[in-house]
Amino acid sequence: MINVILFGPPGSGKGTQALKISKSHGLIHLSTGDILRKAIANKTPLGIKAKEFMDKGILVPDEDIAQMVINAVDRNAGAKGFIFDGFPRNVFQARFLDRMLEERNTSIDYLIALEVDHDELIKRLLNRSKIEGRTDDNPEVIKNRIKVYFDQTVPVMDYYKSQGKLYPVNGIGTIEEVNERIYKILKKVK
Ligand code: AP5
Ligand code: MG
Repeated sequence: MINVILFGPPGSGKGTQALKISKSHGLIHLSTGDILRKAIANKTPLGIKAKEFMDKGILVPDEDIAQMVINAVDRNAGAKGFIFDGFPRNVFQARFLDRMLEERNTSIDYLIALEVDHDELIKRLLNRSKIEGRTDDNPEVIKNRIKVYFDQTVPVMDYYKSQGKLYPVNGIGTIEEVNERIYKILKKVK
């Protein structure tokens, strides 16, 4: 199996790149944000609860995310691997992920960390707000999402760095250019 974490701040291109890699490498794209947005659209109990957190730009409680990820992984038993997008979001979730994969006799191979500067993140997210209308793509909530990223999510990089699995990638450039940089890493190490 190949298991990849696509990592980076809001608007860095995790979803865009994860989708491309999932297709090219035959991996299951597991986006916790997408699953939550689906739950909101379907008005499930999880969706109703999660909306309150997401609309503020803060993290949904770990226990809800953990159960959601277990369900998604086990629904795809036999997959060639997973590309995790937007998860793990803090060190608790990273430890949980490692334990869960170990119980299934597999592990994380790469954490690809997309590096994009603050101004470009804001530009991309405000631009997307005009196209997709995501309720958390407004200046106030974007500010909060970026703060939560630096306060709670960045330590996940150190966690995987200590395992020798951190691969920083310049996330500025065209979608194809960034994609090419990621491909090179996946090729080099495999
Ligand atoms: P989530 O859905 O994960 O959102 P996010 O991390 O804020 O990131 P985005 O989806 O906004 O950005 P992205 O990096 O995917 O970039 P994209 O490819 O779309 O989380 C949302 C919320 O859900 C959280 O705030 C939290 O409440 C909750 N949540 C989710 N997971 C959780 C977890 N594990 N634990 C707890 N809570 C959780 O690109 C952005 C835009 O830029 C697009 O318009 C795209 O077309 C464009 N673009 C992409 N690449 C380029 C490029 N190279 N050049 C120019 N434009 C580009
Ligand atoms: Mg995304």
